Amino acid sequence: MDQYVIKGGTPLHGEVEIGGAKNAALAILAAAVMADEPVTIENIPNVRDINVMIQAIENLGATVDRLDEHTVRLNGATIIGFTVDNEYIRKIRASYYLLGALLGKYKKAEVALPGGCAIGSRPIDLHLKGFRALGAKVEIHQGIVVTRADELVGQHIYLDKVSVGATMNIMMAAAMADGKTTIENAAKEPHVVDVANFLNCMGANIRGAGTDVIRIRGVEKFHGTTYSIIPDQIEAGTFLFAAAATGGDVVVRNVIPKHLEATLAKLLDAGCRVDEFDDAVRVSAREPLKSAHVTTLPYPGFPTDMQPQMSVVLGLAGGTSTVTESIFENRFKYVDELSKMGATIKVEGNIAIIYGVDHYSGARVSAPDLRAGAALVIAGLAADGITIVDDIYYIERGYEHLDDKFRQLGAVIQKVGSEKEIQKFKLKIVS
Ligand code: UD1
Repeated sequence: MDQYVIKGGTPLHGEVEIGGAKNAALAILAAAVMADEPVTIENIPNVRDINVMIQAIENLGATVDRLDEHTVRLNGATIIGFTVDNEYIRKIRASYYLLGALLGKYKKAEVALPGGCAIGSRPIDLHLKGFRALGAKVEIHQGIVVTRADELVGQHIYLDKVSVGATMNIMMAAAMADGKTTIENAAKEPHVVDVANFLNCMGANIRGAGTDVIRIRGVEKFHGTTYSIIPDQIEAGTFLFAAAATGGDVVVRNVIPKHLEATLAKLLDAGCRVDEFDDAVRVSAREPLKSAHVTTLPYPGFPTDMQPQMSVVLGLAGGTSTVTESIFENRFKYVDELSKMGATIKVEGNIAIIYGVDHYSGARVSAPDLRAGAALVIAGLAADGITIVDDIYYIERGYEHLDDKFRQLGAVIQKVGSEKEIQKFKLKIVS
């Protein structure tokens, strides 16, 4: 497996262009199969999870043309299958969006689900509860969710817990149900709004996305459209936190600053300077970092997908910080890895107590999951000496050209595939 090898200690400087939101794109690609006409989707990030989703959609029989690296034209009219089960789709959580999309359009779907995930057990009971409420029969056979309905009928659905996935999945299924569906306690994340906007562009009638009550009036069919995906707030946040951790000064371009509010508020707490522009944000960290207290919450709260990156920044702040994880139960797996680099962090239940240190030292660490992997790269960029991050497979699931983009900001980082290449990198650095 590939690694990143990093020579840390260079403050990041410059500008970086942010790509489309992976988590919006995954759901939008699935939703696109509901139209019988060509749908063109722009600003799709070229990352592994997306490519797996596109492959799964092609396997259903949909026509998929890649117009360029970030644009796909998809036509669901040629779909002949309703079963999605391949070794890849089991690896991506978002496979479940094909359940909502296929059930909504064809009233049947069979989709393999991934097992437990690295960051927690991640049940999908709320998704299934929603499908059942709409009138579908749902069973699980050998890891495959099998769902069928004679017809779907709009309902009042209350989500016991705020769930991004359940909100979007139910929205898709209900968009072609008979009558009106109300989703209460809906997730308000920007990608929920993006998916609702996309469905509406195809002819759906969805109101209230972005609030906790979403009202959907079912329609009979969708038409083609062209749609551009919102910028990835987590990718943007990752670069801004890297600026903070390295004492740098970075501008992220092509972002919606409003989506970054909670993230930026914590960078301010940590003593960084933040400047917001129309579609860009600049973070500079000239002063020593200060301790802060962070709790992850559904949007507009602090995103759980930024939690590991936040800990890396606070690990270098003066004083004691706390990071409380309230969404997923197992999201501190990176702490052991970060400790190898000199961080002092004690985990008690869902709280990480972080005693700031002066600096991190390069070490060999391994990415436990996507965001934690990105956090370890940030730690490596800030650290003295050389850091090797193993298992970057996880990171590539959600970050496009991460090493290229960091290099553009002055980082010394390289993707390598063997011990020999690591040695070569080290020799190059010394000489
Ligand atoms: C999505 C994102 C993920 C992000 C998360 C929270 C994708 C592909 N993934 O995941 O990156 O970290 O939102 O912002 O978009 N829950 C249940 N039952 C359910 C569904 C969820 O109990 O049926 C629980 C989960 O275990 C978790 C909480 O609800 O504790 C929130 O999960 P959810 O918002 O659904 O996350 P995902 O959609 O899986």
